[in-house]
Amino acid sequence: MTQDELKQAVARAAVDYILPKLVKGAIVGVGTGSTANCFIDELAKHKALFEGAVASSEATAKRLGDHGIKVYDLNNIEGMAVYVDGADETDANLCLIKGGGAALTREKIVAACAQEFVCIADGSKWVDVLGNFPLPVEVIPMSRAYVMRELTKLGGEPKYREGVLTDNGNDIIDVHGLSITNPVELEVAINAIVGVVTNGLFATRPADVLLLGRASGVETFVNNL
Ligand code: 5RP
Repeated sequence: MTQDELKQAVARAAVDYILPKLVKGAIVGVGTGSTANCFIDELAKHKALFEGAVASSEATAKRLGDHGIKVYDLNNIEGMAVYVDGADETDANLCLIKGGGAALTREKIVAACAQEFVCIADGSKWVDVLGNFPLPVEVIPMSRAYVMRELTKLGGEPKYREGVLTDNGNDIIDVHGLSITNPVELEVAINAIVGVVTNGLFATRPADVLLLGRASGVETFVNNL
């Protein structure tokens, strides 16, 4: 199976997983990226079953809207049963690196509002130790050089993602060369640097369920921590 076929397989599995939760009036939280796009396209086939969605990026809002799915402002809803999103890396504790698509802050906010976070990923995203994928950090633009110096002190090699502005109008720094053995500690430490909006570690609030696509089929991992 190709990577695209694996993404489509986990997207279908995610829709099967959330269908019983789509009671009338339900709002679905939707992530960003190519795997999330596959999910949106599958979800759209069932749009009569739920009320609408909250989007974690402008790109996702557009794709949902193009399918005729109503997109709600997060401030106008009480929360949601489920949030579905991809990841750049996942470990066995379902701690994630996200933000390859620069949507990490909105993704983290929507995930925080959801009762259940379902991560969908092809098997290439599974790692023993997080950090091979450069860790994205969203920063207020005027703080960029300062934050890069602070990230170097934490042992990383920060690189400015030139030419990219987030949906919030901020810059992205990608931190290379990390071997993240304590993701919760590093997530908290980076978020404490002045000028950081948030970083792409999802460890203080990891995924609750991971649907991982492999050639042998979609495996389901449940976070029991
Ligand atoms: C965007 C993300 C994505 O979930 C992550 O980059 C995975 O993307 P893809 O499904 O295209 O591999 O965090 O900010």
